[in-house]
Amino acid sequence: MSTTAPDATAPDETALVEQFEQVLARHDRIEPRDWMPEKYRATLVRQIAQHAHSEIIGMQPEGNWITRAPSLRRKAILLAKVQDEAGHGLYLYSACETLGVSRQELTEKLVSGQQKYSSIFNYPTLSYADVGTIGWLVDGAAIANQVPLCRTSYGPYGRSMIRICKEESFHQRQGYELLMTMMRGSDAQRAMVQESVDRFWWPALMMFGPPDDDSPNTAQSMAWGIKRDTNDELRQKFVDMSVPQAERLGVTLPDPDLVWNAERGHHDFGQPDWEEFRAVVTGAGPCNAQRIAHRRRAHEDGAWVRDAATAFAARSSAEPVETREARA
Ligand SMILES: [Fe+2]
Ligand SMILES: [Fe+2]
Repeated sequence: MSTTAPDATAPDETALVEQFEQVLARHDRIEPRDWMPEKYRATLVRQIAQHAHSEIIGMQPEGNWITRAPSLRRKAILLAKVQDEAGHGLYLYSACETLGVSRQELTEKLVSGQQKYSSIFNYPTLSYADVGTIGWLVDGAAIANQVPLCRTSYGPYGRSMIRICKEESFHQRQGYELLMTMMRGSDAQRAMVQESVDRFWWPALMMFGPPDDDSPNTAQSMAWGIKRDTNDELRQKFVDMSVPQAERLGVTLPDPDLVWNAERGHHDFGQPDWEEFRAVVTGAGPCNAQRIAHRRRAHEDGAWVRDAATAFAARSSAEPVETREARA
């Protein structure tokens, strides 16, 4: 019998593609067991992994201030926030695992620099005001990016985003409330807030990725329903949202070109330094090496926990059911 004979039971690829596209056209979800084009799967793995890594690396800049929080209340809030980010990373690694990649593989790709994370986390946190600014602007930008992802076409990704977005909104409020408290304080505190906003405004705008005409993956990702808005649309939404918040706070956003355009019904604004963005994304930011070294060390230090959990799971599944039940 010839091994090249077509298998009569295998559905042909054209029918599968058609089915896949019908699901997208209905704005329905693609689930892990559904057929999907290899490129769709690879794009999702890249995007979800990058997102998961950002949550995990994103714990470091703020974690830097946990031991130096100015009060017990601020420490409790910051601890809860950083812990939420760990949870976000874990949901997203799980979503990525449904696409056939192991967490081990993802971690190795992060620490070897093969997969990226958001450029924003390669900037240092120099004062406690940065905790507030990160909550307000960085979590704010994350919300603008992520709310549309609740409707993304891949089921496990969209569902994990729903809970994540609720927590991000708490993060943004705690940041804004911290900055508002400092703005009502002394001149030195107000200066600290302004200095922090000056450093984080442009990197926050970079979080939406390069301009649309320099973003080769956007069109395909939108056609697949993975992305719902372009980078520039999201950046505009974020600027329009942040301007009145900055006014209420009493801080100046460091952009001389920022002005309301009544004709467009949006703010005009300047462009971030895209050269700096490219440098930070490709590893030359102020903290890239430090962030990865810290992550690698934490992963190595945790090896015994993984070994113990694996040994325990193996022993439990080898035991007769009665022994397991008796112990429980
Ligand atoms: Fe998060
Ligand atoms: Fe957050």
